[in-house]
Amino acid sequence: MKIAVAKGDGIGPEIMDAVLNIFKANKVPLEYELVEMGKWVFDKGFSNGMTPQAKLSIENLGILFKGPMETPKGKGVKSINVTARKTWNTYANKRVFQTLHGVDTVFSKAGIPVDITVVRENIEDTYGGIEHMLTHDVALSRRFITRPGSLQVIRYAFEMAKKKNARRITCAHKANIMKISDGLFLECFYEVAKDYPELKADDVIIDDLCMKLVIRPDNFDVIVLTNLQGDIVSDLCAGLVGGLGFAPSANIGDHICIFEAVHGTAPDIAGKNIANPTALLLSGIAMLRHLGYMKNAAEIENALLYTLEQGIHTGDFGDKSKAALNTTQFAEAIINNFGKIPELGAKPLMENMPATDTHFKLEKNPLIVTEEMEQEKIVGVDFFIESVEQPEKIAHKCERHGGEKFKLINLSNRGTQVWPTGSVYTNLVNQYNARFESVGAEPLRQQDVISLYISLSGDFKICSLELLNMWGDKRAYSLAQGQ
Ligand code: NAI
Repeated sequence: MKIAVAKGDGIGPEIMDAVLNIFKANKVPLEYELVEMGKWVFDKGFSNGMTPQAKLSIENLGILFKGPMETPKGKGVKSINVTARKTWNTYANKRVFQTLHGVDTVFSKAGIPVDITVVRENIEDTYGGIEHMLTHDVALSRRFITRPGSLQVIRYAFEMAKKKNARRITCAHKANIMKISDGLFLECFYEVAKDYPELKADDVIIDDLCMKLVIRPDNFDVIVLTNLQGDIVSDLCAGLVGGLGFAPSANIGDHICIFEAVHGTAPDIAGKNIANPTALLLSGIAMLRHLGYMKNAAEIENALLYTLEQGIHTGDFGDKSKAALNTTQFAEAIINNFGKIPELGAKPLMENMPATDTHFKLEKNPLIVTEEMEQEKIVGVDFFIESVEQPEKIAHKCERHGGEKFKLINLSNRGTQVWPTGSVYTNLVNQYNARFESVGAEPLRQQDVISLYISLSGDFKICSLELLNMWGDKRAYSLAQGQ
């Protein structure tokens, strides 16, 4: 089997060479096609950080093993790492955080074992990077949480939890505040949970999760969350097991998967041959298991664990009274320990069973939609308008435009109602939400909304608008604070 390899920037080439040497010494039956991706490719003028040939190779091969890559700052280009995950729909980011012997942490010293798998949604949320300045003072970031996107990642998390005989699978969220977006993610979680009655499924509010993780991390097993919350919780969990140098990452999609370390290019130590290759090696081991090379994965992981148990370390961790090895020496130490079994966490030596190649070429973009469950009707519209006037005056102007079909229901500013009731102690910025609802029982048409838009634009700059929909008897929009 052939896979694509991008060595990356900074310490990337050093740690990738170390890992590929370990694979070679273990006779891993893989061939590698080196592809051009990274900062130097941006610098050559490719605005997405990869050459067209690299994109083609990765799409043909289906697996990318990559080193960290630098995103040039201040040039307006998007992160290559995020672009790669999104373009190829690697919807689940799986990170495994385990106590490693030889890597001292407050928990290992207290005898509390950590073994947590974080599955983070990898495409949606604020990572769409869809942002606008609506007025000079107001920035808007759109946060999309979709039903099919949530179902994809949650189903992956349950399947993975079942395979690893997990004790518990927990959905973390902020659905108490973001009732619609995080509420949808949570709803999808319990919908999928019905198909896995053998797994204990529960949920926790994200801030509560953070506190509980640093008090008793051993109470958690598999955690599934949305993208940004997952990003933060992943690094928190990396800290529980000794830092980013020990955090592997797999980006899983139906067609293309990307395996990489969580840490970045470490420019401060690049070129010195002192970087720790453990996180990339653990990612590589996860890739071997994904491809069915169970025996190679177990042999290499056992050698790594044994090496760490012996107190062998690179400069960034371990017992400082023992001399640190450089990257090449650390990789050689692992190779010399092939066949050794660690005292703790030894992996059983199963036979290789290369997975059947499920990678196939797509002819067109897959459309992932769920069925519409309820009848939809438009019952109103939110206009986000720019104004520095007081609420009373704005309301008076808005009311003039309602006509026969619309009635102004309220005005809110940064999500807090300021008209018809409110408090003079609420600070105002120069953007209001004017909410209009339908007067009659007849559902509104888009043309009605456009007529109101035209009329209202005579008095205000309209920054954006959102339709107020009902799905059956369910409101598909939030109320303002105080409404
Ligand atoms: P970083 O992870 O590169 O470095 C943070 C600190 O950890 C530094 O002191 C570094 O020396 C140390 N460190 C990281 N990996 C190490 C290793 N394997 N061995 C020993 N020490 C290690 O984070 P930073 O400085 O925020 O980012 C640098 C660049 O990396 C940025 O351009 C960023 O965009 C990129 N980056 C790329 C990622 C990826 O390709 N997946 C992920 C994170 C950052």
